[in-house]
Amino acid sequence: MKKIVVLHGVNLNMFGKRDPKQYGTATLDQIDSQLKALGQELGADVESYQTNLEGEMCERIHRAFTEKADAIVINAGAWTHYSYGIRDALAILTVPIIEVHMSNVHARETFRHTSVFAEVVKGQICGFGVDSYLLGLRAAMSAIQ
Ligand code: DQA
Repeated sequence: MKKIVVLHGVNLNMFGKRDPKQYGTATLDQIDSQLKALGQELGADVESYQTNLEGEMCERIHRAFTEKADAIVINAGAWTHYSYGIRDALAILTVPIIEVHMSNVHARETFRHTSVFAEVVKGQICGFGVDSYLLGLRAAMSAIQ
């Protein structure tokens, strides 16, 4: 079994209630259950984590390093666009990191077009709703193997 850590950042606990035009109606728990089920199919133990606190996200990333996670799937929400702290934490990892977004960030406001993680991730998937996460998990598994 591979160990995949899925990280959800700021405000993503509000999926299901928040701006359904951009993010659909699935809750974070429903997304996590779908990831867990797909992980079982693909041979991955998927552990999900959400926080609204930037320092806690950095500490969870450090823990992924010490626990030797095989890959990371991350939707950092708005932190994606400006958090050098999270970027530097991700840069510590030597395993594949897949950045995902539910919405098509490039079709939205200009500030969403920039990802400060771009140089430290293996790739980015956006615009497919919950499928962005599921595709991200598949991408993580193929990047490991
Ligand atoms: C998001 C896109 C971000 O720009 C936004 O701040 C979010 C969610 C997405 O999943 O589409 O919180 O990461």
